[in-house]
Amino acid sequence: MGATLTNPLRVGLRQERVIPPQCLVIFGASGDLTHRKLIPALFELFRQRRLPSEFAVLGCARRPWSDEEFRSRMAEALAPEVKRHQSAWDQFAACLFYEPVDLQQPADAVRLGTRLEAIDKLKATRGNRTFYLSVSPAFYGSGCRSLAAAGLLKDPSRSRVVIEKPFGTDYASAEQLNRVVQSCGQEQQIFRIDHYLGKETVQNILVLRFANTIFEPIWNRNYIANVQITAAETVGVEERAGYYESSGALRDMVQNHLTQMLALTTMEAPGRFDPEAIRNEKAKVLQAARLANEEEPWKCCVRGQYSQGGSRVNPVAGYRQEPGVNANSTTETYVAMKLFIDNWRWQGVPFYLRTGKRLPKRLSEVVLTFHEAPVHLFDAAGGSPTANQLILRIQPDEGAGFVFEVKAPGSGMRSRPVDMHFSYDESFGEPSDEGYVRLLADAMLGDPTLFTRSDEVEAAWRLYTPLLELIEDAPWQLPIHPYEAGTWGPGAADNLLAEEGLMWRRP
Ligand code: BG6
Repeated sequence: MGATLTNPLRVGLRQERVIPPQCLVIFGASGDLTHRKLIPALFELFRQRRLPSEFAVLGCARRPWSDEEFRSRMAEALAPEVKRHQSAWDQFAACLFYEPVDLQQPADAVRLGTRLEAIDKLKATRGNRTFYLSVSPAFYGSGCRSLAAAGLLKDPSRSRVVIEKPFGTDYASAEQLNRVVQSCGQEQQIFRIDHYLGKETVQNILVLRFANTIFEPIWNRNYIANVQITAAETVGVEERAGYYESSGALRDMVQNHLTQMLALTTMEAPGRFDPEAIRNEKAKVLQAARLANEEEPWKCCVRGQYSQGGSRVNPVAGYRQEPGVNANSTTETYVAMKLFIDNWRWQGVPFYLRTGKRLPKRLSEVVLTFHEAPVHLFDAAGGSPTANQLILRIQPDEGAGFVFEVKAPGSGMRSRPVDMHFSYDESFGEPSDEGYVRLLADAMLGDPTLFTRSDEVEAAWRLYTPLLELIEDAPWQLPIHPYEAGTWGPGAADNLLAEEGLMWRRP
């Protein structure tokens, strides 16, 4: 069964807001993120005619590039895209500028200010600036300080700072970083990125819950037996060992992306559709969340690390054999855990979170499993009836599914489960924008709805503090379980659910 729009017109579905004239300043412009995500997202916005004509991008990094060199490097990095849309690229490239800047040097920040004034004159960007810190997290605080000292954050209505993840490495460092950035500008100027919030399907969790009447009455402990949130990846650590070795799956994926999915799935309805009203509810529910066993956290969490796998023809290296990884590394590439939320809506409902690299499928989903029917009147084809499940498919097959029992064809009265599904692709016929397209546009619009507020970030770190402390102080209590690359993680993770007679969903 497919759900379709009553009138699936391809044009006119998008409702776009107008981005005001401005200059987007990217620090770390010679880095990966700039040419892999930011410039492609900006070029997409340009092609969708969503950027104002008074617009400029100023790339900043320590390398002594010229405007021309920056333009040609970006063109090279986006070569296939540029080739497909050469004339659009030529117009877009005219908005790209470059200034060698080391934000640690006060003189550089002052020179940056002068260059921005020149760009304001040239492109009529009217002193509106979005500063994007795509630099090492160690420089987030000092970067904000330099911008503030150079007077570049003075006007909260004209200047914003976008900060990439990770925002801190634990509760104490996040709190400290919040204090620093808030001393440089107002909270409304700070845009903490979590690119999962840029995904259409993650935003859809809110719409599905609060634009329909059928879900909200059953969206609670009376009807929902448990919730599983999965973010599975097929890739390994890639070229990022330097960062990942000190991060691991818990900091890299759970504290941010999985926790954001958890918050949207479990928050109360906001009083109105307003950034602060939404963020209040997210912060509130995260403050009520806790590990299933805070005193003995090793009982509610399993860590794993991928070992060699693949086939003889296509062997896949184990994590410890990856370039840049310590041969005795105890960094987790997989983590699974059980949480509870102590509030009226969710008391007693277990939430199971898992994420891992080198799993068999790339897939992110939220699965709400409902209580079983109280009485089994019919024989079930599979032995016992399947509990109803609502599956919010975040990626890659974007949409939602609902599993319910129907009568199996034939003379008896046997039941069997079927799946009703909604697909973004089938219903809307156009691919969703990359998360960065939406998030960059929102930051430039000054709309913080899809960015994490200081209290949310701190609540998220606080939630995992018992685990982080355990890993730090007594890692043997949370040992690393190896799992073969290309499998669904360590068997020990199954025990987290087995005590409730449950199993991980095998998508
Ligand atoms: C990033 C993590 O934030 O998210 C990466 O640092 C991970 O390790 C990536 O691969 C996953 O994002 P997505 O959008 O591909 O699910």
